[in-house]
Formats: sequence, structure tokens, C-alpha cells
Amino acid sequence: MNNFLNGTIDLKYLLHAFDKNVIFSATDLKGCIVYVSDAFCKISKYKSQELINKNHNIVRHPDMPSKVFKDMWDNLLGGKRWSGEIKNRAKDGSEYWVLAKIEPYFDSDGKKIGYHAVREDITAQKKVEQLKENLENINDHLEKQIEERIVEVVSLNRDIKETQKEIIFTMGAIGESRCKETGNHVTRVAEYSRILAEYSGMDKFNAEMLKEASPMHDIGKIGIADSILNKPAKLTSQEREIMNTHVTLGYEMLRHTDKKLLKIAATVAHEHHEKWDGSGYPRGLKGEDISIYGRITAIADVFDALGSNRAYKKAWKNKDIFQMFKDEKGKHFDPTLVDIFLNNIDDFLAVRDKFYDY
Ligand SMILES: [Fe+2]
Ligand SMILES: [Fe+2]
Repeated sequence: MNNFLNGTIDLKYLLHAFDKNVIFSATDLKGCIVYVSDAFCKISKYKSQELINKNHNIVRHPDMPSKVFKDMWDNLLGGKRWSGEIKNRAKDGSEYWVLAKIEPYFDSDGKKIGYHAVREDITAQKKVEQLKENLENINDHLEKQIEERIVEVVSLNRDIKETQKEIIFTMGAIGESRCKETGNHVTRVAEYSRILAEYSGMDKFNAEMLKEASPMHDIGKIGIADSILNKPAKLTSQEREIMNTHVTLGYEMLRHTDKKLLKIAATVAHEHHEKWDGSGYPRGLKGEDISIYGRITAIADVFDALGSNRAYKKAWKNKDIFQMFKDEKGKHFDPTLVDIFLNNIDDFLAVRDKFYDY
């Protein structure tokens, strides 16, 4: 050490430090080891005498692709240096990574006599890289699994919604068939209600809800005796009273729920015979006290009933239907909705044509 302080270099000390700290090896031209440093022995766990005169591939790890060594030899034989990351195998089978720099060396006459290599131990860095890669793979795998689950849940949800729609629609159709309404009545009422809801400014979600709920407006007719429901003659006032209970029956059937769709269906069942001027039933609600769902379905239901042939009556002519709506604007029906309805009548007529009962 003193020699350092004196400004001169103790070669022996330097060699010792080099041997101890630098993973160094020298080979002959064929790759046979002629010298290894202590650091080389330490990392490879071989003794120096176990390495000398052995081919350098004694520490080669089987995982290393041979093209790496081909590239190395191509460079070295061409007189160039080579540098690269190499995975090695120690005597005990453990692996270690080095960043090797290999170059030819020459005798005093300038003749190439072998190769020497210095290496940096990059095992820790490689392990971190490997861990990162594993983590990324796990992440990818998890992400894929989550995506698959989401797709499953979405499709399950869609199934449930479709089933719910079908049940509601079928229940509505049962109600209508009991009173011999025509087959497509509920389909048309559903479509008219949605179109009118959208034109009146209702958002798409609620308009769609109404479309699904409105087929249930007469579900309460399930509870009305056949003799009244399908009486070929005019109902007596007492029979009319019983008939009118279909709105409260329907409401009672549907109201015990916290599901929005069924709540709307309950409201529609309850209020589709209310009238704007308060002369409707069952509660004689007036104006906007009648829910928008009830007011819309009232127009849809009457429009369809008048435009369809029934056993007891012929379909009305369009001009008579339009006239009736004009006359009843502000009496039976919400005047604003009637205007919207008549202003867009072609859309409603197109639905009637599409689902016409022949
Ligand atoms: Fe009704
Ligand atoms: Fe109806």
C-alpha cells in the first residue's frame, strides 16, 4: 500500500487484486483453458487445476443457444473482439450469468496465440429480469382470466335480461289472449310506447324499459272471469265495474318488487286507463299526476285497439282515429303527447304495417 502512497505501482499487489476481483480466463487458440483467475474459480466453483487444459465449454450451460457461440467464434476467428451475455453452469450445477468481453492475444512477434476474456457477474441483474418477466407473464395470464370472466358475466347478464324480457312479454301476451286480443297487440303497443317515449324526450334507457314493460298493461285481466272478459254483448254497469278492476289487479300483481322494469310495468298496469282531465279510473288522476309511462301507454293502447279488427268491431279508418285523438287531446290524452304522436304518425303507421294481424 505504501508504494501507492509513494506514487509507484506494486505490480504484485495489482495482480493479486486483479486475480481476486476480475473473472478472467485465457485459452489457447482451440479454446483450451490455460489460465483462470481466483474470481473465475470462485464463481464457477471449480479449482484452478480442474479447469486448466479443459475446454472452455466445461462451464457452458445447456440452455445457451449454440448460435451465440458460433457468432462468438466467427468474430474471434476474424480477429475481432466479441462481447455478450452468457449463462454458465458452475461445478455444482447452479447457474450464473456473465457479461463477457473476449479478444485475441498475441505473442511478442505479433502472432495470435489465444484468447482472453474478462467477465462481469450479472447474475443478480438477470434474476431481476427473469422475475420481471415471470411477473409480466402472470399479469398477462391474470388479465386474460379477468377478461374471460367479464365476458362470461356480461353474457350471463344478457341471458338474465333476455329471460326477464321474455317472461314479461309472455305474461302480457297471456293477459291479452285471455280476452281474445289480437296476437300482435302487445308487440305493437310496446313499439308505439318506445317511439312515443323517445319523441317526447325520454332517454333511450327508460324508453327501452317502457317498451319492455308496456306489454303488461292488461295483465290484470288474468283475474277477470271469462264470462265478463269475453262477453259478446255490451257489459252491464256492474260487469263494467268488475272489468275495470283489471288495473288494480295488475298493479297488485306487479308492485311487490324493487326491480325498475317491474315497477314501471306496475305503474303502466295501474294508470293506463287514467285520463288527462281526471275522468279515468281507478284513481281519477289528473294531468301530470298520471305518470308519463301511463300517459304514453294510454295513447299506444287506444291507437292500436282502434286500428285493429276485433271480433266485435271493425278497425277504424285512419282519418277517424286521428280525429278522435284531436278531439280527446287534453280530455282523455296528454295534449303534448297527442301532438308529438300525430306529428310523427308515419312512424307509428309503419310499426302497425310491420306487425299487422292478417
Ligand atoms: Fe286495460
Ligand atoms: Fe291493451
